Amino acid sequence: GPSLLQDIQEVLYSEETIQNKIKELGETLSREYEGRNPLVICVLKGAFIFMADLVKRITVPIELDFMAVSSYGAATKSSGVVKIIKDLDVPVQGRDIIIVEDIIDSGLTLSYLIDVLERRNALSISVVALFDKPARRTVELEPDYRGFEIPDAFVVGYGLDYAEKYRNLPFVGILKPEIYTK
Ligand code: PRP
Ligand code: MN
Ligand code: MG
Repeated sequence: GPSLLQDIQEVLYSEETIQNKIKELGETLSREYEGRNPLVICVLKGAFIFMADLVKRITVPIELDFMAVSSYGAATKSSGVVKIIKDLDVPVQGRDIIIVEDIIDSGLTLSYLIDVLERRNALSISVVALFDKPARRTVELEPDYRGFEIPDAFVVGYGLDYAEKYRNLPFVGILKPEIYTK
């Protein structure tokens, strides 16, 4: 039958390459957050798989929570208007926060989130992003921890979607142009 794989032009980051990088990131975070009990926040939906794999590689006590945000459609994404769809269950005041993102493009989602958490008086905020597309940045923002810097290609998989599909691929690949130009 039809397979998701048929829509993929090229694998950019294999499952093994991704998992090796996440192991490294987990080791780094485990060193840096020793004795601090950080609150690790997953930005839904894209970061859900990265979050699950990353926290298994962190060897110090953490707590975790989830937040869902959405921009008001493609036309206004550049305006930086972001809406909270699901808020955190716990207060962040006085907490060390680690925001987990699958990818940074324009930087608008994260700059909004960081602003929200700062106004709630988090003690510290750091960002770990598996993928970074600096070519697309419209606001100044650098992740504290980064997996891969990637080219400005149409990538899907490992949480990243096109029209809500392809998130369940275990690798990241480039989508065939015929899929998004038809
Ligand atoms: C994607 C991605 C990041 C954000 C990055 O999420 O998961 O959260 O866009 O783009 P930016 O840096 O330009 O803000 P999206 O809004 O598509 O929602 P999703 O995670 O549910 O796919
Ligand atoms: Mn997202
Ligand atoms: Mg998306």
